[in-house]
Amino acid sequence: MNSERNAKFLWGVATSAFQLEGSPHADWASWDSILSSKPDVTNHYSLYKEDLCLLKELGVNAYRFSLEWSRIQPREKAWDNNAVAHYQDVINILLENNIEPMVTIHHFTHPLWFIKKYPWHKNESVEKFLNFVEKIVSTIKGVKYWITFNEPYVLLLGGYLEGCMPPGIKDMSLAINALKNIFICHGGAYDIIHSKIPDALVSVAHNMAALAPWNRWNPLDKLLAKVAKYFYNHSLLDAFITGTLKVKFPFKEEIDIAVPIKDKIDFFGVNYYTRIHMRFNPFKKMGIELRHRDIDGYGLTDMGWEIHPHGLEKVLRYASKLNVPLIITENGIATHDDQKKIKFMKRHVDVLEKCIKEGIDVRGYFYWSLIDNYEWLQGLDARFGLYKVDFDTLKRKPTNAAAYYSYLIKSRDFS
Ligand code: FCB
Repeated sequence: MNSERNAKFLWGVATSAFQLEGSPHADWASWDSILSSKPDVTNHYSLYKEDLCLLKELGVNAYRFSLEWSRIQPREKAWDNNAVAHYQDVINILLENNIEPMVTIHHFTHPLWFIKKYPWHKNESVEKFLNFVEKIVSTIKGVKYWITFNEPYVLLLGGYLEGCMPPGIKDMSLAINALKNIFICHGGAYDIIHSKIPDALVSVAHNMAALAPWNRWNPLDKLLAKVAKYFYNHSLLDAFITGTLKVKFPFKEEIDIAVPIKDKIDFFGVNYYTRIHMRFNPFKKMGIELRHRDIDGYGLTDMGWEIHPHGLEKVLRYASKLNVPLIITENGIATHDDQKKIKFMKRHVDVLEKCIKEGIDVRGYFYWSLIDNYEWLQGLDARFGLYKVDFDTLKRKPTNAAAYYSYLIKSRDFS
């Protein structure tokens, strides 16, 4: 990506298909009761042309969105070419408007048939996923930026450790095998994409958090934060650098797993939202208690997350050890309060500006999200949108933060 050095900084917004469109064929659709009454959550699948006009109105030059696998391959042996054509139309509209598409291939949801028969801990998952990648990469045209997986560790924690996301498993050894298969899929997808689109730029979007001990004088809390920080933030970075995934837990032998992803990354997508304080508590799940505390005085979001802009600098510094350009693929706040949304955005973009000035190679910022949408564990009340959605009438209305984002884009020159 070095030849891109003088290219335009990407100012974008990010969404995911399922959170806007739902899908009758997705595992998540049968997971949450809100969705049985709202199959297409914001009616975006029909209103996409109107929603894409909002991008123009905002003045962004990039848009990150995902393909809903369960719409494209609703049954194991059936492809829905209309769904592929639908996403191609989205891409064509973006290109006509000089908006760079960034496509996420996998953003948490799966076709029901996949998660029932080939969940990630089974090795057949790899072939099924790569078939899907082959299909879309050979049919979809005009995309340079690809994200193979959104937040593989969140998928893993939710799907395999907490069990709060499909496939709803709580098992460490299955979790490790699932992660290994997801890494194998990233490596395979990277090769497929590059074989068909030589100038493609491929990454994952990694959720990175500022992790801190609850009590910094307590050695157990410190140990816990250190272990969590290594696993959650760093082990994926190291796997890209060395081709080995290291799983290190206190008082246990380190597990080293070879994963075929060494250097298979052209830029690195960072999703950053918050800081989490942690401590040992034998009465909590896995002995860990997590809490958000308002230490900076900027408040908590409607989801109770700490607003901690300085953490963005920390995670960008960690990520820069990869030596590839960084793109902030998600950053945003759930709040009903427009002023709070504006301040959140300003404070994070100020930190970003400082990082760029100090030489960290960041090439883009994507605010999460364009319009209010379905938030995985919270439903419809987590208001991340620059445009507010009335979920009864499905009308979109700009928040004051939308105008502020347009102003930020015009007033900061990071190119
Ligand atoms: C991220 C997810 C995204 C959205 C935001 C709020 O972890 O990638 O889909 O739910 O959180």
